[in-house]
Amino acid sequence: MSTSGLYLQLFSPHGLIRGHSPELGRDADTGGQVKYVLELAKEMGRREEVAQVDLVTRLIDDKSVADDYSVAIEPLSEHARIVRIRCGGRKYIRKELLWPHLEEFIDKTIRFIKSQAKSPDLFHGHYADGGYVAMELAAAFDAPFLFTGHSLGSNKRQKLAQEGVSAARMNRQYKLDTRILVEEEIMRKADRIITSTQQEIDLQYGLYSNGRIPDFSVIPPGIDLETFYPFYDLQMDTELLSEEVKQTRFTLFNELHRFWAHPEKPFILALCRPDQRKNISGLLEAYGTSKELRAIANLAIFAGIRSNITAMEDNEQAVLTDMLLQMDRYDLYGKLAIPKRHDFATEVPELYRICAESRGVFVNPALTEPFGLTLIEASACGLPLVATQDGGPRDIVGNCDNGILVDVAQPREIAQALQSILVDEAQWSRFSNNGINGVRNHYSWQAHAEKSLHHILQLLPEKDLPSSQNGTATMTTPRSSASFGKRLTNVQNLLITDIDNTLVGDDASMQELFFHLQERRDSLAWGVSTGRSLELTLQAMTEHNFPMPDILICSVGTEIYYGPDLRYDKGWQRHISWQWKPEQIKEALAVFEHLVFQEAEGQRGHKISYYLEETGNRLQAINQGLQENKLRCRTIYSHGQFLDVLPVRASKGKAVDYIRYKFDFSPRHVMVAGDSGNDEDMITGKSRGLVVGNHSEELEGLRGKANIYFSQACYAAGILDGLKHYGLI
Ligand code: GLC
Ligand code: MG
Repeated sequence: MSTSGLYLQLFSPHGLIRGHSPELGRDADTGGQVKYVLELAKEMGRREEVAQVDLVTRLIDDKSVADDYSVAIEPLSEHARIVRIRCGGRKYIRKELLWPHLEEFIDKTIRFIKSQAKSPDLFHGHYADGGYVAMELAAAFDAPFLFTGHSLGSNKRQKLAQEGVSAARMNRQYKLDTRILVEEEIMRKADRIITSTQQEIDLQYGLYSNGRIPDFSVIPPGIDLETFYPFYDLQMDTELLSEEVKQTRFTLFNELHRFWAHPEKPFILALCRPDQRKNISGLLEAYGTSKELRAIANLAIFAGIRSNITAMEDNEQAVLTDMLLQMDRYDLYGKLAIPKRHDFATEVPELYRICAESRGVFVNPALTEPFGLTLIEASACGLPLVATQDGGPRDIVGNCDNGILVDVAQPREIAQALQSILVDEAQWSRFSNNGINGVRNHYSWQAHAEKSLHHILQLLPEKDLPSSQNGTATMTTPRSSASFGKRLTNVQNLLITDIDNTLVGDDASMQELFFHLQERRDSLAWGVSTGRSLELTLQAMTEHNFPMPDILICSVGTEIYYGPDLRYDKGWQRHISWQWKPEQIKEALAVFEHLVFQEAEGQRGHKISYYLEETGNRLQAINQGLQENKLRCRTIYSHGQFLDVLPVRASKGKAVDYIRYKFDFSPRHVMVAGDSGNDEDMITGKSRGLVVGNHSEELEGLRGKANIYFSQACYAAGILDGLKHYGLI
């Protein structure tokens, strides 16, 4: 990657995304958004100001889908690629089930960023899940955050409520509460939100408490004009008629002609997912009840891919069954084509052109249409439109003047509009040409990228573009105010130290240690790992006068924060929450009279702490009691008086392992320092271990073990000695 120029990351975690022949329409999660983000990534990659674009999505390693989705990095072009991040196991799962795995996605993305020459200048989230990921990463890297909603939860809630779906089911099946909460937060935090239409701002974002906070820009997506070229190009330029195009056309003709008794007539084309809201039945009623329309034109409905209707989802099944019943009711045999499958990438543009050659019309009968990508594509190929008087179609016909808007709830209106275009040749040609020209002016990706970049550059005021920076220096010199993400992905070495009796104890050597840390700030980050809560850690900082660490592992490894602004690590919290049942633990331990609760500040979300004077087998009995109640947790006893009960996955050492993994530090480059029994598990981990000269008796057993250095020097002087011993300074 070039070090000058922008590095952009786009996030679209759900669905199936690949660069070649995307499987659009395969399921509810693989539709318009997939296409949108692919085109956006490619076009942004073409811009001079941009050095690199990553389209970050989920890695899926599942036999039920193609192998392509398990490839970690797939180039899209010279400066754009798909980056796939593993999370939530290998299986392909629907988007609603991804929520619990997004922290893992974020952590692994940070790790990926560490492997890159620099960190992204901007994070752009798509849909609520991608928005969440981008929002968290933008906070970690102190970079701006852009959001494109594609669709919003509140609208879905309204629609489901109208269909009579209960609130409980909305949450069970669609996780709507989670989604809407995240969307509210995004609206508070996004630096800019991009919508495709003005209506999206008014009617969709308008439903949110925070819907008036964001800075919005209406930037409609573009379409791929090299694919959606006008129908007449094929007649003018015979070179476009490659073998592939000929074969596609031949297949389509065969497929359509199977259904039609008079294939020479113009045809009306509809293309949509088999979804109630797409109102296919309204179109069939319009066509079925209009004698004139049936006489002058055929109808073709491409409604997704189907093999066995009875095996499909309820909604789809109902739509397709209705379609067949209506075909029979209106006796549309010989007139209505309902092909079973089509290949979106190659066949759809040809389909539009074949329809335009027949002097046909494209109809989108959906009751509401927030945007209507197919309408723009059909227009680009030269097809006049009939669509709903709502959202996207209103903008499109307003911009291009290439069709008629109707109240699609009235089948008669649909029929009349179709008929008026089909019978008036001058009108047809005017609409056809207007569409072809209008799309080029209003809906190209080039125009979209230009407008987006204009906003992005405004969000990056100090960015020197494109090449006024001195390459390598920018990579290794983080700004002193750098966010933790940038800082921890830029340094190679890490020191993690216990506080009491390790870092603090001797002021003079501690000040010397900090002098060395400051000198090597560019290559060495540092953190504390302590039994103290965050509040008590901050108290120690003031009391002993040491600076803000880069990392604060508090409450015996159950909480991780990052300096300077103490950002809480939610990924760690989620990870250690596994099997953690604090209420049941307290209940089970209530029977032990020797256990005395520590003060309130010792009790944390993932740590229950007692005082315990160990005499005889008390500890053993406690562990046995927990086991008998089938409570999985970890007990740590220290200093002859403290008993901490923690989640099984948490400890000081485990927290260090997590940090090492997340920011991709090699164990050779991490040193952990401690003095007592509760430091043991981090000192004996994979990192370099250091025991200070003033250590307590309980660590004697570690002497002589590989990878553990016992310093003669005490307190911070011991730490300094260890850093030299391991060659970290
Ligand atoms: C600190 C904490 C206390 C904990 C002890 C041992 O003193 O404040 O809650 O039990 O460390 O880890
Ligand atoms: Mg200590």
